[in-house]
Amino acid sequence: MSSRTKIKALLESGKTDIDVTVKGWVRTFRNNQFIALNDGSTNNNLQIVVDFENTDPALLKRITTGAALSVSGRLVASLGKGQSVDVKATQIEILGDSDPEKYPLQPKKHSLEFLREIAHLRFRTNTFGAIFRVRNTLSFAIHTFFQERGFVYLHTPIITASDAEGAGETFHVTNFDLANPPKTETGEIDFKQDFFGRATNLTVSGQLEGELGAMALSDIYTFGPTFRAENSNTTRHLAEFWMIEPEMAFYDLKDNADLAEELLKYVIRYALDKNKDDIEFLSQRLLDEEKQKPQQDRSELNLLEKLQFCLENDFERLTYTEAIEILKESTPNKKKKFQYLIEGWGTDLQSEHERYLVEKHFKKPVILTDYPKEIKSFYMRQNDDGKTVAAMDILFPGIGEIVGGSQREERLDKLEQRMDEIGIPKDELWWYLDTRRYGGCPHAGFGLGFERLVLFVTGMGNIRDVIPFPRFPKNAEF
Ligand code: 4AD
Ligand code: MG
Repeated sequence: MSSRTKIKALLESGKTDIDVTVKGWVRTFRNNQFIALNDGSTNNNLQIVVDFENTDPALLKRITTGAALSVSGRLVASLGKGQSVDVKATQIEILGDSDPEKYPLQPKKHSLEFLREIAHLRFRTNTFGAIFRVRNTLSFAIHTFFQERGFVYLHTPIITASDAEGAGETFHVTNFDLANPPKTETGEIDFKQDFFGRATNLTVSGQLEGELGAMALSDIYTFGPTFRAENSNTTRHLAEFWMIEPEMAFYDLKDNADLAEELLKYVIRYALDKNKDDIEFLSQRLLDEEKQKPQQDRSELNLLEKLQFCLENDFERLTYTEAIEILKESTPNKKKKFQYLIEGWGTDLQSEHERYLVEKHFKKPVILTDYPKEIKSFYMRQNDDGKTVAAMDILFPGIGEIVGGSQREERLDKLEQRMDEIGIPKDELWWYLDTRRYGGCPHAGFGLGFERLVLFVTGMGNIRDVIPFPRFPKNAEF
């Protein structure tokens, strides 16, 4: 293979009058003369100028949208508008043909719904190129943030016998013949004979195992796929999503919220620095999309301004109880515009309420703390009022909940009492309870939904567009 220069490096080099070899895919070919070539390193195409009079017509015919090419030639200052340099081709090799009659990605604007059906090709559009470069940067930024602070990246299991959230919405893992599973004498499926000798499922969260790590390593984080079999067909839910779960010994709820806010700001700033072109492109895409909407439904800030705003302002912090008061008195509640009216203390907030607080009332990210214990998980630390737990959710504009976390219940008696109340089997979680028996200590952690973060930073509207191959009810294509 000859030395090939990536288009991004070439455009950034500022060099001209050198010989180069570039490789990529044809976006468009105009007048038998100008190829827009893209290799995914940047949203910017490189213009290749073809000397068509001296090029074999059979070769020219094969330069079609989607074809893969290798081009060698001279990099020169461009005479045309819209680009600073061109490559005057001296040699063009077709690495892979693409039949223009059949290629599904025509050089025109396709709907996001259509592109979802051809997710194997959508990486080749400007929008998805930008999204997946930003997604890449955000994952790297997350590791950088934690590594700079001495956190240990811990790999928690994907297959587990526990259901961390106690929600029961898990995918089973088995290698039984499903038509004919072994049965016990009483007619139930006999999981003792299954691969692991017990019923297992895909993890919904690495938190419980993460806590075990934090009880020795001090600060850990996980970053891996998690799975939920909830039948949620929304623009915010996936059946397979990636989650970042830090867990810190000796942290209380405030330390936890401080870390989460610092993390979110750090990674957003990182992406703005590293992927400015892509985010500017996505910002413009959103503006164009919003032009179709009535004035009152358009955002006040464009994407870049929204991200900048998030960096420059402290997140609003308040308790669940304070939020309920605001919601009760709010216009949509009084005018019965909410689908779920807020009548009293104790009910869970719906996304319409979360969005009201963030988008209408405070107009900035919000950290809600101290929720009623009934609507939160068993492991959250009980507050002295006997009613609430040291939970926190971070709510983002356009997204709703992006982070969920808490200080953990480190007191064995309180934890066991709560598990009994909710009916969580203590014997199955003996190992979790052991950390409270031997050197337990105050600790806290949270889970950041990675795709919701990518949604926010890219300004996209549907979570299915920010993961390469989304998994949701009735869909596991690709
Ligand atoms: O609030 P959740 O369920 O919290 C936990 O799983 C805790 N164990 C986290 C912890 O304290 N270590 O999920 C955490 C985050 C949510 O705030 C949301 O951003 C995201 O994960 N999330 C989803 N993202 C996409 N699709 C889904 N179905 C999601 N469910 C949760
Ligand atoms: Mg949650």
